Amino acid sequence: MNELPKVELHLHLEGAAPPAFIRGLAREQGVDLSGIFDAQGNYAYRGFVDFLRVYEAACTVLRTPRDFGRLTRAVLEQSAENGVIHTEAFVSPDFCGGRDLGAWREYLAAIREAAEEAERELGIGLRVIVTCIRHFGPDAARQTARCAAETAGDFVTGFGIGGDEGQGSKADFAWSFDMAREAGLRLTAHAGEWGGPDSVRDALDHLRVERIGHGVRAIEDPALVDRLAEDGIVLEVCPGSNVALGVYPSMRDHPIERLRKAGVKVTVSTDDPPFFHTTMRQEYDALHRTFDWDEGVFRDIAATSARAAFCDAATRDTLL
Ligand code: ADE
Ligand code: ZN
Repeated sequence: MNELPKVELHLHLEGAAPPAFIRGLAREQGVDLSGIFDAQGNYAYRGFVDFLRVYEAACTVLRTPRDFGRLTRAVLEQSAENGVIHTEAFVSPDFCGGRDLGAWREYLAAIREAAEEAERELGIGLRVIVTCIRHFGPDAARQTARCAAETAGDFVTGFGIGGDEGQGSKADFAWSFDMAREAGLRLTAHAGEWGGPDSVRDALDHLRVERIGHGVRAIEDPALVDRLAEDGIVLEVCPGSNVALGVYPSMRDHPIERLRKAGVKVTVSTDDPPFFHTTMRQEYDALHRTFDWDEGVFRDIAATSARAAFCDAATRDTLL
């Protein structure tokens, strides 16, 4: 089952940067980033807030469109090696050249060029979900939404929000999501990772998203689980990320199987694979081992992901 074609809906482009790639850029730029790596050369952090700090430090060396082109290629090569045929990457203009919003189109062009080359050579498709960062606040999010709206089309197909769910409220970001929706973008929001069921409800009611990033803590409220199932809301579940960051102590405690059994549309993604020492293959293996998922379950998951993909119908049909 690990050889099945996979569709990944929740991957942060910057968060997928291999540590060696970031170290290489730091060396080229003469920047000392040694404090964010452990003795083995992996990203080193303690808990979620520290993870965000290390993540942002790594992003400081992503300075030019060329850096993003090279990053896109490196990330798509790894995904393709894991049998991924379509991936949707969160890209945050806030992390492009230290928030160089005036050059957003150039960053995007470099990402697109690398993606088109990877599609021809490796057979993997990429779509971009422009993503604002919650702890950077609603004003920054508005500017990010403008970037997204101006470049909405067949490559930039979605808008989302990540960052520290503990800060601010979802309603503060409604304006940005309205703008993105009006530009024809599809919507997703990180919720129910660190926040409880109310955070998921807020994403549905205030941001009116069709997918939820994580969403797993919905399990704490049976009425919300019923609502997700009835409304066909798709959860972008990242089990390895949740265990690595301590949302759940182990895979056995993870609610993905209970959500699936309750009729919620769950999908499987890696989030920020090198930070969590995971890959799509490893996620599939762990789910097979822990919950005894067979090929039929994984086929269902891939089909759910394909149907929920933020791409046009013709592309979606090639994934099914
Ligand atoms: N940005 C990158 N990974 C994230 C996560 N797991 N939660 C929120 N924001 C993120
Ligand atoms: Zn995420």
